[in-house]
Amino acid sequence: MINGQVLVKVPASTANLGPGFDTLGMALSLYAWIEMEAADGETVFELYGDGMKGLPEDKSNLLYQVAQMVFEEAGVHIPELRIAMYSDIPLTRGLGSSASAIVGALVAANALAGSPLSEEKLFHMASELEGHPDNVGASLFGGIVVSAWDGSRAEKVRIAPHADLEVLVAIPTFQLATEKARHALPSMIEMKDAVYNVASSSLLVAALASGSLELIEFAMRDKLHQPYRAPLIPGMSEILDKATEHGALGAALSGAGPTLLTLVDRRSTRKAELEAFLIDTLQQHGIQAETRWLMPDLNGPELSIGQTDRSIPFMERIKGEVRA
Ligand code: HSE
Repeated sequence: MINGQVLVKVPASTANLGPGFDTLGMALSLYAWIEMEAADGETVFELYGDGMKGLPEDKSNLLYQVAQMVFEEAGVHIPELRIAMYSDIPLTRGLGSSASAIVGALVAANALAGSPLSEEKLFHMASELEGHPDNVGASLFGGIVVSAWDGSRAEKVRIAPHADLEVLVAIPTFQLATEKARHALPSMIEMKDAVYNVASSSLLVAALASGSLELIEFAMRDKLHQPYRAPLIPGMSEILDKATEHGALGAALSGAGPTLLTLVDRRSTRKAELEAFLIDTLQQHGIQAETRWLMPDLNGPELSIGQTDRSIPFMERIKGEVRA
């Protein structure tokens, strides 16, 4: 059954969490909204907000392309679409904006087609589209997601975040393309560094799963990607080294950066100190940044099917939830 109109609210994500390169992800309480329906005439796009500026408004648009992949997989024919999108997730900053768009389009198109594809199938398609499963897994399932993708099979285990886990991110004003940040990585690493990351990542997963917040500082260390990306983000090394001295449970580069992420015990009395440390350190290195307090998102995509009042404009309908 083809549904009339669907609206999906999809969370941002952070990837790697330090040592879990291309493997660990966590959904964050920062969102994008995508609405989709079959169009009467030609395909139309309504892209709202600064982050959407410059994105193609024709059939080369990623959301349209992803939707058509779902329809092809599902054997349904919906060539013309109305697609509306607004996002609070900053672009090219390491907060999974492209993964959220991919997941939002997959979930919306699947719902429009009557939900013929399983979540597992959507996860597989999303991992293939993104090239790695960490951001898309978190956006698709919510919470903390441990994932593996070997190019043909995607598997994951979801971990419920500890109830006291809060997140402070420092989002620099400059953008860093994931491609550039991946190019900074070496093609070979030493065995001792591989062992270091296996130990750290395994311990981090166990610590997050068991709620052992005190182990996060030791477990969040990485030798696979962060040392090589640090030269691209002035101030990063100092923040990763010293954030725990200012009240963080642990610190990492968020995804490919440039956003820096700290995990914090929500009951901490040192939040203002940590926030000032992040801002001041980046400033000392000539980097302006915005800090945001976020929570782990627990729900993944939230879907409304055919429940929206079309006499109210898209932005009005989602406005209560938009940050600004
Ligand atoms: N795991 C990816 C990376 C996340 O670090 O390159 C960014 O998309």
